[in-house]
Amino acid sequence: MSIFREGILKGRVALVTGGGSGIGAGIAKRLADQGAKVMLLGRRPEMLEAVAGEIRAAGGVAIGQPTDVREYADVESAVERTARELGSLDIVVCSAAGNFLAPAATLSANGFKAVIGIDLLGTFNVCRASFAHLARQGGSIVSISAPQAFVPTPLQVHVGAAKAGIEKMTRDLALEWGPSGIRVNTVVPGPTEDTEGMRRLAPEDPAIQAKMKKGVPLGRWGKIEEIADAVLYLVSPAASFITATTLVVDGGSSLLPSSRFAFD
Ligand code: COA
Repeated sequence: MSIFREGILKGRVALVTGGGSGIGAGIAKRLADQGAKVMLLGRRPEMLEAVAGEIRAAGGVAIGQPTDVREYADVESAVERTARELGSLDIVVCSAAGNFLAPAATLSANGFKAVIGIDLLGTFNVCRASFAHLARQGGSIVSISAPQAFVPTPLQVHVGAAKAGIEKMTRDLALEWGPSGIRVNTVVPGPTEDTEGMRRLAPEDPAIQAKMKKGVPLGRWGKIEEIADAVLYLVSPAASFITATTLVVDGGSSLLPSSRFAFD
């Protein structure tokens, strides 16, 4: 059941990076449910095809293009294909991300660069390559950030720097591109069930997970659908005067100091 009017995105075209799994896949399916035609970008073709197939089986329109968002030429060609094959580009969701736990004292420069490359450079590449299309009829960008952008978090210096950059870039782009009719916002998921991120960041031990959930003011982890609904709201006409906003969807977990990735 949706609280949104059915088909609220009918006639719109969305491009979602990281669309082959986790939060990106959930967002892509949600936007498609509401009538958007969707282009999925990600590195693994079989994952993209699986999600696109699910959307098509449910009556939607979806295609995928294997793309590393760090490579501008590849991003540009995926954006051009979206407009050519799906008719336009109105909504861009930057959800591709990389993560692993690593102490800053031993993280290699290349490890730092890998995450900055996927998260921050990748988000810039996708926004930049999409600008001319979005400016044609007005559009909306939502980038996925993380509490690490503003909550000091052990073992996450690379992610914190990348996500803080995304949030600042969001506000700069909102300022520069507002006159072109483009809204730019950020969604911050907290710990979210069934995601690659949580598989990488949380131990599998149910007792430790239960303790981590207790540390969230709302007493649980989020669901992918809850993040997807926040994105849907921001790209929908209900948010038509909202830009440069960071919408935190984390059950209140970022209100507290973070030690959850250190497990001490
Ligand atoms: N701890 C420390 N360093 C690590 C690491 C870890 N767990 N995993 C990778 N690195 C380092 C590598 O050692 C390498 O540095 P080096 O050349 O100095 O040895 C650097 O990061 C790049 O690794 P590589 O595997 O070549 O990068 P990649 O571009 O293929 O993969 C990652 C990028 C590392 C972010 C990979 O985890 C990934 O592809 N993630 C995508 C999915 C994901 O993370 N989802 C969760 C999002 S919240």
